[in-house]
Amino acid sequence: MCGIVGAVAQRNITPILIEGLKRLEYRGYDSCGVALHLDGRLTRSRSTSRVADLEAQVQHAHLQGFTGIAHTRWATHGAPASHNAHPHFSPNEETARIALVHNGIIENHDELRRHLTELGYEFQSQTDTEVIAHLVDHMYNGDLFDTVQQAVKRLHGAYAIAVFCREEPHRVVAARQGSPLIVGVGKGENFVASDAMALAGTTDQIIYLEEGDVVDLQLARYWVVDADGRPAEREVKTVHAHTGAAELGPYRHYMQKEIFEQPRVIGDTLEGVTGIMPELFGDRAYKVFKEIDRVLILACGTSYYAGLTAKYWIESVAKVPVNVEIASEYRYRDSVPHPNTLVVTISQSGETADTLAALKHARSLGMHHTLTICNVATSAMVRECSLAYITRAGVEVGVASTKAFTTQLAALFLLTLTLAQVNGRLSDDEEATYLKQMRHLPVALSSVLALEPQIIAWAEEFARKENALFLGRGIHYPIALEGALKLKEISYIHAEAYPAGELKHGPLALVTEEMPVVTIAPNDALLEKLKSNMQEVRARGGELYVFADVDSRITSGDGLHVIRLPEHYGLLSPILHVAALQLLAYHTALARGTDVDKPRNLAKSVTVE
Ligand code: F6R
Repeated sequence: MCGIVGAVAQRNITPILIEGLKRLEYRGYDSCGVALHLDGRLTRSRSTSRVADLEAQVQHAHLQGFTGIAHTRWATHGAPASHNAHPHFSPNEETARIALVHNGIIENHDELRRHLTELGYEFQSQTDTEVIAHLVDHMYNGDLFDTVQQAVKRLHGAYAIAVFCREEPHRVVAARQGSPLIVGVGKGENFVASDAMALAGTTDQIIYLEEGDVVDLQLARYWVVDADGRPAEREVKTVHAHTGAAELGPYRHYMQKEIFEQPRVIGDTLEGVTGIMPELFGDRAYKVFKEIDRVLILACGTSYYAGLTAKYWIESVAKVPVNVEIASEYRYRDSVPHPNTLVVTISQSGETADTLAALKHARSLGMHHTLTICNVATSAMVRECSLAYITRAGVEVGVASTKAFTTQLAALFLLTLTLAQVNGRLSDDEEATYLKQMRHLPVALSSVLALEPQIIAWAEEFARKENALFLGRGIHYPIALEGALKLKEISYIHAEAYPAGELKHGPLALVTEEMPVVTIAPNDALLEKLKSNMQEVRARGGELYVFADVDSRITSGDGLHVIRLPEHYGLLSPILHVAALQLLAYHTALARGTDVDKPRNLAKSVTVE
């Protein structure tokens, strides 16, 4: 999703802006650009290639400046083309007075565009952003800070913007509503960015702007007003943001590296867990867990599948009813709230717009017990929830989530055991057994990853297919969903997942010799049922690719390929099985030559709805 960096300083800020964009690359983008105040005029450079290309352009043109803004764009309105890339100028390139970058979606852009066109503005792009640039130019009254405060009142939708003006060389004004934005406070210089990581190495003094805030950045001062224009005190926090993605090391892609990091990061996520204690989720967790009698999980995509897995765990072990909702659906539907609900958001980035909005919606319905399972301690999600468990997956660069998912599962299993304990449903023996299993997870997972050569052989077959089905039952049904999502998003093979029992209610019609059917077949109570479903596939000529456990009595045969996972892992088995599916998706995509770490059309941090 779009990323913003801006700076006002007494030194050349081009390297800071470019470095900031590089740190925001992980969010996904299709074009990028930078604008600077140079010798009393505005100048810009834009690229539909990578930030490295923009950097080369900027160096070639010797673009330097003390005030400027930069942007990575993930197209929403208008194709990923150079004329749609930010920064946008107003009134036009030659006489540019205003330069502006934006993250979010302006819902009334059509109406504003009509109005500004009538006033004589000529639009150079299809973006909703250019509307804001012209609006600010039209309303400009000699004071950019005041102008922006007035202009944002006319915007409907979500935005984080940063803007500067030819007439006010040492000033950048920024505002946010519904999209993330932070201020970086320096000595005699100030910055703005989409997240603290973009400014790592420049400043660690960070202000998280609140909804509706507008900030005036000058050299020696910054000034924040709230949505009503009142001066607002915002706490400056020292944030030790990650200094960016680690090196690839021996791996070809970040996704592969991140798959192989899972044993370590699961260990990190569970480090220090010597026993089941509600305090692991926050000081007030015991009181909250005692009060609630149901759980509502809100999340998107892969994080939603983690939530679905948790439903099986929590209902079976803790006996607490769980509802799992796709955040973008929940926020807009009429639901029946219950005050004794624990609202759990799950998010890798902690900035997903739909999940944040769903959380706020739940709170507006009177549900105030909130917990997040999140990978970014400084994110909006953690700040918005009263309880939190921070997964320690580290920076996830690959757009397709892998290690974030399995660490979420580890944290959710911990939540399951904690709720069970608080409800008197976890004996000391059970606690000890589960903890032992959790501690052994890194070793068990490493042996699954050692199956890579066998999985590569399957991937070569899959690479020639255009469709695939994934089947699972019980706690492995969400894992089938996740396996299908991984395959489709990085290899572009159409993949669907079903609970195996649903096969004969429709999807069986799709099964022919051309249809590979991936089956997750752990040795659990549903194995015999699953074997019948597998027969149904074989009888229609479907080719079965089965991930079985070491002790499942399924052997390879005609149209039946089997890979055995080294251990049968009971309730925690989804964490092992999903790793095998991640490798299958990764190697299939590799064989098809797709851009594994940056699949087409997708972004890492989805900050618009
Ligand atoms: C898929 C994937 C996405 C994210 C989803 C939610 O591989 O990564 O489906 O899971 O966009 O993102 P977070 O977890 O950051 O809220």
